Amino acid sequence: MKVTVVGAGAVGASCAEYIAIKNFASEVVLVDIKEGFAEGKAMDLMQTASLNSFDTKITGVTGDYSKTKDSDICVITSGIPRKPGMTREELIGINAGIVKSVSTSLIEHSPNTIIIVVSNPMDTMTYLVHKTTGLPKNRIIGMGGALDSARFKYRLAEALGAPISDVDGMVIGGHSDKGMVPLTRLATRNSVPVTEFISEERLDEVLEATKVGGATLTGLLGTSAWYAPGAAVSGLVQAIACDQKKIFPCSVLLEGEYDLNDLCIGVPVVLGRNGIEKIVEISLNDAEKAHMQSSAEGVRATNALLEF
Ligand code: 2OP
Repeated sequence: MKVTVVGAGAVGASCAEYIAIKNFASEVVLVDIKEGFAEGKAMDLMQTASLNSFDTKITGVTGDYSKTKDSDICVITSGIPRKPGMTREELIGINAGIVKSVSTSLIEHSPNTIIIVVSNPMDTMTYLVHKTTGLPKNRIIGMGGALDSARFKYRLAEALGAPISDVDGMVIGGHSDKGMVPLTRLATRNSVPVTEFISEERLDEVLEATKVGGATLTGLLGTSAWYAPGAAVSGLVQAIACDQKKIFPCSVLLEGEYDLNDLCIGVPVVLGRNGIEKIVEISLNDAEKAHMQSSAEGVRATNALLEF
């Protein structure tokens, strides 16, 4: 199993590290444009192999996509991260050109690959990869909901005073401060609805904190987060690589599902060896449906800024 990660910055390197530690991939190729940067990150990571007991071979390359040849899965993290006060959507001007160029280079050497998009604004970048590569829709996946759901569970556990392993919850919709749709109605503490334990007011606080989870960290760190994004995308890679048939909320091209067409937005999907094995249509109540439609309008507005 060969995985390419484009962008050896904090998110890409974290993703590569988590993939290696999980030890399911034979090879991870880290690609960056900065001379020697990917090579250095790869070498530093390889020097943890004996300490973290993995056999995955991590190599780094500057700009040479021939080294990514025949990758089973390619992760695109390249582009600029947010600064405090910025929205993800404001990154489109620079990141669209990078993602277009990177995805073209990737499929030139790996025409059968599955692409996972992390670069922001992620839903729009995922849509751009569809338009750029023409790959089948099951092989283009945007990572946002897995990260947002992890933050949702973190906030729920905090509110419940519970261990995170007891908490489950999912965030669908756009990966944006205003567009996320945390499914508070379906969140549980060990199969018991969380509404049995916390008030609606406290749940609203959890919902709002989840939506700005990324911005909160950008304010604290001065740049976008990387540990949770890297861990989230490594989970998608593992589900595909190991054909796990696990459900994740991912940004995928919708063609009528959830009454939405011709855009990429976060919905539950089954991930396996073919990438998106199935889009799962869950029953939403009227409020959730309205949130999804509103979220889709926000994604469409950002998509409209793309120049193909
Ligand atoms: C985040 O929410 C980078 O969009 C990513 O942290």
